[in-house]
Amino acid sequence: MNKTTAVYPGSFDPLTIGHEDIVRRSLRIVDRLIVAVAETATQSKSGLFSIDERVDLIREVFADEPRVEATSFSGLLVDFAQGREARVIIRGLRAVSDFEYEFQMALMNRSLWPEVEVLFMAPATRHTFLSSSLVREVGRLGGDVTDFVSPGVKTRMDRAFGRTAGE
Ligand code: COA
Repeated sequence: MNKTTAVYPGSFDPLTIGHEDIVRRSLRIVDRLIVAVAETATQSKSGLFSIDERVDLIREVFADEPRVEATSFSGLLVDFAQGREARVIIRGLRAVSDFEYEFQMALMNRSLWPEVEVLFMAPATRHTFLSSSLVREVGRLGGDVTDFVSPGVKTRMDRAFGRTAGE
């Protein structure tokens, strides 16, 4: 039987528990999942972690899950997906407001590579308000991000903001 490989692309700066939820849900459907950090994100934002640090954090969080691979890519998502023979792209849809942008990207990606399918996943309701930029801002301003990111991500955020863990 053919194994299904999917790509879950994003900025992941940083990976939040909302992203983790999408990864774990996707693994119920696909055999292998490549979590791919985009070096060129469509909406550029001021970042916290370097691309390599983001990939490392994703690897650390999914160290117990051999079906998940973390990597980065440059250039077009469809070129990366095609190169890895991944015909499915996973995206999370948190709210209706995500829809328009996601729908445009899905149709653009499919016109660039007609064989690709884009699968939209709904996150757990309790994660629908999460976004990486909000988590970054809360962390930067000294708020507690324990509920929003994995412990390893929190430790690295504390370090990046010049705090020691538990401070
Ligand atoms: N839980 C928590 N947050 C979530 C989430 C979830 N389940 N799903 C999305 N988000 C948040 C992200 O944290 C991010 O928040 P932020 O804006 O505060 O940082 C936001 O939703 C959307 O970001 P992300 O999913 O990382 O997408 P993006 O818009 O940064 O990047 C790419 C989208 C990488 C897929 C797109 O830019 C791309 O394909 N780039 C490659 C170049 C290319 O092919 N371009 C043509 C595209 S048609």
